[in-house]
Amino acid sequence: MERVTTPIGVPLALPLAEPATSAPATRGALIDQHGRIARDLRISLTDRCNLRCDYCMPAEGLPWQPREQHLTAEEIVRIVGVLAELGISTVRLTGGEPLLRRDLPELLAAIHAIPGIEDVALTTNGVLLERQAAALAAAGGARLNVSLDTTDREGFKAITRRDDLDRVLAGLIEARRHPELTPIKLNAVALKGVTEPALDGLLAVAASVDAELRFIEPMPLDAGHRWTPDDGLSGAELRKLLSARGEVRPLPAPASATARRFELGDSGQVVGFISSVSEPFCSSCDRLRLTADGNLRSCLFSHEEGDLRTLLRNGASNAELADRISGTVWRKPQGHGMNEPGFRPPERPMSAIGG
Ligand code: 5AD
Ligand code: SF4
Repeated sequence: MERVTTPIGVPLALPLAEPATSAPATRGALIDQHGRIARDLRISLTDRCNLRCDYCMPAEGLPWQPREQHLTAEEIVRIVGVLAELGISTVRLTGGEPLLRRDLPELLAAIHAIPGIEDVALTTNGVLLERQAAALAAAGGARLNVSLDTTDREGFKAITRRDDLDRVLAGLIEARRHPELTPIKLNAVALKGVTEPALDGLLAVAASVDAELRFIEPMPLDAGHRWTPDDGLSGAELRKLLSARGEVRPLPAPASATARRFELGDSGQVVGFISSVSEPFCSSCDRLRLTADGNLRSCLFSHEEGDLRTLLRNGASNAELADRISGTVWRKPQGHGMNEPGFRPPERPMSAIGG
């Protein structure tokens, strides 16, 4: 096994992009039956979280997956190596809360070292960011998405059921000091009754840490299956509210972009809208998801998973892993069907899939 030294000087014994043991996987082979090509992998590093956002999980938390079912860093690196051979070039680390993984800096450094991986991003709730930002930057850094639904302390407590707003804000300020952790985006789930009064605070915090603010429509991925289409504010509704503060000018975007971006008033502050419910972007989706317990999902809303953990732990070759991956991708559903009668949410909640 190759030994490498990470940028933070921690010697690692991770198999970096292990050479294919039999038939080499073909680059760009990750095409689905509807002609989309997967390039972006989201990896959930744990289903655990230190917050309890109301739209995600109940106050008491969820029955967590047993830790021995979680992929080890070595296993994750092996799978990403195979996926990179198949054409994946972007990796996003997510959760639950990925900063709860003790081996995150080492894993981040190892992912940076995989040939073909050009872009690494991290989605976090920011609570542990102040303490970990330096280590993450030293491990090669990542583009950062920090979840923040409101800058009002009581509102934050009501949504997340924890009094941690100050820690998130301190995390943002600390992250801002590390160029390796830019660009930063702030993700706000757009909730009726919560987001309207939070708009000015969110815009101000985003501007102060040079982050792009993005509003995400809530999706039926809550563990309690309580979601209704009326919970959220659509991008169009939010833009109407923002237009009372000044001109809202659309910005050009590549066809594959999930966020529609706009420039505001005189300041030119950029705001994005991810409107999966009211304006689905399934036809250009290039994402795949790997759950913390080693299952590959071609869609947030899939009812099928490709079990890579069992294959891996039974000694499968890279070619066998590539086969299962290609099959799972091939059967990617055409769309999420959220707006159709008979829609059935996925068995796993968001925290066990990875956002
Ligand atoms: N709908 C939309 N976004 C969600 N998130 C968590 N649950 C949901 C949901 N049901 C968001 C988080 C975070 C990102 C990972 O996904 O707030 O920003
Ligand atoms: Fe944790 Fe994210 Fe779920 Fe909130 S939305 S409880 S931060 S996993």
